[in-house]
Amino acid sequence: GTTLKAAAERSGRYFGAAMGADRLSDSGFLTIANREFDMMTAVNEMKPDATEPQRGQFNFTNGDRIYNWAVQHGMRVRGHTLAWHAQQPWFWGSLSGSALRQAMIDHINGVMGHYKGKLAYWDVVNEAFAEDGSRRNSNLQQTGNDWIEVAFRTARNADPSVKLCYNDYNIENWSYGKTQGVYRMIQDFKSRGVPIDCVGLQTHFTGGSSLPSNFQTTLSSFAALGVDVALTEVDVTNSSTTQYAGLTQACMNVPRCVGITTWGIRDSDSWRGSENPLLFDRNSNPKPAYTSVLNAL
Ligand code: XIL
Repeated sequence: GTTLKAAAERSGRYFGAAMGADRLSDSGFLTIANREFDMMTAVNEMKPDATEPQRGQFNFTNGDRIYNWAVQHGMRVRGHTLAWHAQQPWFWGSLSGSALRQAMIDHINGVMGHYKGKLAYWDVVNEAFAEDGSRRNSNLQQTGNDWIEVAFRTARNADPSVKLCYNDYNIENWSYGKTQGVYRMIQDFKSRGVPIDCVGLQTHFTGGSSLPSNFQTTLSSFAALGVDVALTEVDVTNSSTTQYAGLTQACMNVPRCVGITTWGIRDSDSWRGSENPLLFDRNSNPKPAYTSVLNAL
């Protein structure tokens, strides 16, 4: 039989997973990861709180362990993430205005400098929009509306070799306010030459058997702006086979949809574990959704 990565590679795509450093001693996880996946994301280990626990004191121990394991097993790595309202270093909490802005810039330079030339993608900014398509209120947003473009310009200078992504959830449904808000930002960045290469759609799906409306239209519309798109954190309540097949098909139908990443491998790896949302069960066996994805690739 074939594998997720072999099937994805036939069309020049990748098939990725996310792992925490605790999985590095989990042989069941590592066996499947090595067999099926060719892209890896760290679940928490490259986030701002993990990589810069004290101002100017960077810690790449666990990020590097994941990076090294992935590369030694023939995978590429997506960096996740540099600027986000959550999982921030504690010291960001006592900063605001230009001091917080500078801390963000220093963080991007420090982390991207360490991984310079090594990563395929960076989620430079994560989850910066509210559900209605306006900017999400956060300490970073309060430093000024230009914080996102400053993050991307800083990132391009720090490592010109890596593709720079904006990543968010609930941007899969084309008629949804948040999708439109992100779309307008990408359109604006492209028109003004703000460096951006890709949009990550987290793709955390809940319930039901049908996809959010016009999911494929969303992917092709973003792509038409001149960016790659990727499904970056896929999980689906109870692993609906129709939703898994549909999201895979939508990506396959859009030439600039470069790959799919599931947020973990087995249900026991998932942050939504009680919803059994992944492609492998707790005994490391492939679920029916695995076959529906494989058949759609
Ligand atoms: C989640 C991790 O899976 C959890 O372990 C952690 O406690 C919280 O973050 N959107 C994202 C991811 O971009 O970083 C989140 O990961 C899930 C939602």
